[in-house]
Amino acid sequence: MLKIAVLVSGGGTNLQAIIDGVENGKITNTKIEGVISNKRDAYALERAKKHGIKAVAVARKDYASREEFGDALLQAINELDVDLIVLAGFLVILPEKLVAQYEHRMINIHPSLIPSFCGPGYYGLKVHEEALERGVKVTGATVHFVDGGCDSGPIILQKPVMVEQGDTPEILQKRVMEQAEWNILPEAIDLIANGKVQVIDGKVVINK
Ligand code: GAR
Repeated sequence: MLKIAVLVSGGGTNLQAIIDGVENGKITNTKIEGVISNKRDAYALERAKKHGIKAVAVARKDYASREEFGDALLQAINELDVDLIVLAGFLVILPEKLVAQYEHRMINIHPSLIPSFCGPGYYGLKVHEEALERGVKVTGATVHFVDGGCDSGPIILQKPVMVEQGDTPEILQKRVMEQAEWNILPEAIDLIANGKVQVIDGKVVINK
């Protein structure tokens, strides 16, 4: 059984897709041990509680320095004793220690086809604003392992989504979530939970 922690900052629709996936059998062999948010008022925490999942807030403002905050975050994660960390809209720069400790055991969902529209400053709606600004006709989402860089780790799954005439960032964000994010994040967890994902020479190989 793969034990996971889900880290969130906001509304938690990707968390919901994971909870639903575990409950409806799309994600097998997996238990959500807890949800951690850096925002006390994140709706994602309510979603966790509604499903009887431990919900913890570790807020930056409660700590004097970034380092203390990072240590508290690491401690909260370690207390859950998990095999995999899932970043589902977790908008915090991660402490190096955390990244090192969970190498190839931490994944992230990003709302574009990496390497487009990713890296420092590209998160949430900003990603879709930039995609529309550039005039791309196809965008999508990516699930990748987290390494020491920003959106630079080995890619596990990607799914394309068409941009349509008249899209606003909000409309495009919703389509990318519905058509890509909420599918590939649960799928990636299921693949990992069933031992089907390997990293070889810095690249992901999936043995279906
Ligand atoms: C999602 O679109 C996710 O891909 C994005 O934040 C949103 C969170 O929504 N993450 C990033 O931009 C990371 N760089 P949610 O709280 O409803 O899942």
